[in-house]
Amino acid sequence: MRTTITQLKQMKAKSERIAMITAYDYPTARYLDDAGVPVILVGDSLGMVVLGYDSTLPVTMEVMLHHVGAVVRGSKKAMVVADMPFMSYQTDPTDALRNAARFLQEAGAQAVKMEGGVPMAPTVQRVVDAGIPVMGHIGLTPQSIHQLGGYRMQGRDADQASKLLDGARALEDAGAFSIVLEGVPSELSKLISERISIPTIGIWAGPHCDGQVQVFHDMMGVYPDFVPKHAKQYARIGDTIKDAARRYIEEVRDGAFPTQKESYAMDEAALAEVKGRLS
Ligand code: KIV
Repeated sequence: MRTTITQLKQMKAKSERIAMITAYDYPTARYLDDAGVPVILVGDSLGMVVLGYDSTLPVTMEVMLHHVGAVVRGSKKAMVVADMPFMSYQTDPTDALRNAARFLQEAGAQAVKMEGGVPMAPTVQRVVDAGIPVMGHIGLTPQSIHQLGGYRMQGRDADQASKLLDGARALEDAGAFSIVLEGVPSELSKLISERISIPTIGIWAGPHCDGQVQVFHDMMGVYPDFVPKHAKQYARIGDTIKDAARRYIEEVRDGAFPTQKESYAMDEAALAEVKGRLS
């Protein structure tokens, strides 16, 4: 049985913190699921950390469906949340509903995530009313990077902060089951978390959210370009990969790999026969 939205709301009620991690493929989902992570987000961050684009904007529905399906196949207990890519839900609520439904119907996700506050509330409501759980996302919303003028902290002044509070309330009223707060000062995420009944999941939003999310490639040391300021590295898998690749290259060059252990020995009689045919 996978984590449900009711369980996540109960976790907030009991002050139990929620850990969410992104994943984009089958083996990673297996490892995270075995480790007991209750929620896996297939983030459109895959555009950057997996596909090498410099933003999330080029990510399409087809790409997301491909990766969400792999993560669903790799997990049994975690709730899988599919991130709706740029322009799959901003155009109108009917497009949003159709695309959200594809994640559940074609890829097997349990919920979707959309970026945006007050203006996105009617769309969230439309999707929730059709029976699809929606996670909101406010603050630094990477799909609006050009509007925001860069990957910057949001909600630093009173007007911006009030706007984010209004956004959180509007998403809750629209039926969202949880909200990601990204790039928001700690004090503001505390205010928001205390004022809504659904769990907040923070990234670069301080310690007061009801849960935290990290991008797998950042926290495991896989992404080679940079480590974001908000990320804590729990492993250095990139270094492990480089070391292993260097040892392999050396062993191939030296003839130390493969040995007979990694090879298949032919039946002696068959070998003698084939050699006989050569002479
Ligand atoms: O795409 C993503 O990985 C996200 C998280 C950073 C919340 O939206």
